[in-house]
Amino acid sequence: MRIPFIAGNWKMNKTMAEARLFARDIKEMYLDTDVRAAIFAPYTQLLVLKEALKNTGIALGAQNVHYEMSGAYTGEISIPMLSELGVDYCLIGHSERRQYFGETDQTVNLKMKALLDSEIKPLVCVGEDLGQRESGQALALVEKQVRAAFDGIAAEKAVRATIAYEPIWAIGTGRTATPEQANEMCACIRGVLSSLYDEETADEIIIQYGGSVTPENATQIMNMEEIDGALVGGASLDPVKFMQIVDF
Ligand code: PGA
Repeated sequence: MRIPFIAGNWKMNKTMAEARLFARDIKEMYLDTDVRAAIFAPYTQLLVLKEALKNTGIALGAQNVHYEMSGAYTGEISIPMLSELGVDYCLIGHSERRQYFGETDQTVNLKMKALLDSEIKPLVCVGEDLGQRESGQALALVEKQVRAAFDGIAAEKAVRATIAYEPIWAIGTGRTATPEQANEMCACIRGVLSSLYDEETADEIIIQYGGSVTPENATQIMNMEEIDGALVGGASLDPVKFMQIVDF
């Protein structure tokens, strides 16, 4: 049984003071729910949020991590550093990191392996750009990204990962994939997992859709059979909107 999982990706937004306000507001709204929720905040907000979200049941995520445990990597953050802060999840392979910061299928795989050796659960993003969608390459491209991310990872560990299918053309554009398009890709991803592992393993892994998810379209997206959750950017900055999505 897969528990629905709604994750908010704040990207490079909010100061510490704003993060505190968000936590104060959401605390009053996030009561009993069967939906799992997490906020993926900038590094500098993690400590504040850990404290502010205590006892709410809302999990905490980082937006990136280095795969080495320590060393001469100026500007990077390691898994032990995140563990010390009590971080539950870490995003890897977000398309903005692939596009602007040189993240590759290979570094995604190294980060997956390092995270799956730790307590922190990876949330790995995959997705095609508009050109790849229009030229009919989307399925093949996403399959390649999934295979690369899970390369060399055993089934017992793989089940701790979450996958977010985020078509790049739908991120921050207001142009969502249709629920059918999103569902088709999530089904394809589950098929790839099934061929990499087995059906039982594939059935356990949470697959989210991401890209312009809003309170208005969340229900339709979440009602699709193969979609287990959402990775929400813009709408996660507002506690009311984020909660409306959690309560889809
Ligand atoms: P968006 O971002 O909801 O603002 O489109 C989604 C994401 O990049 O994770």
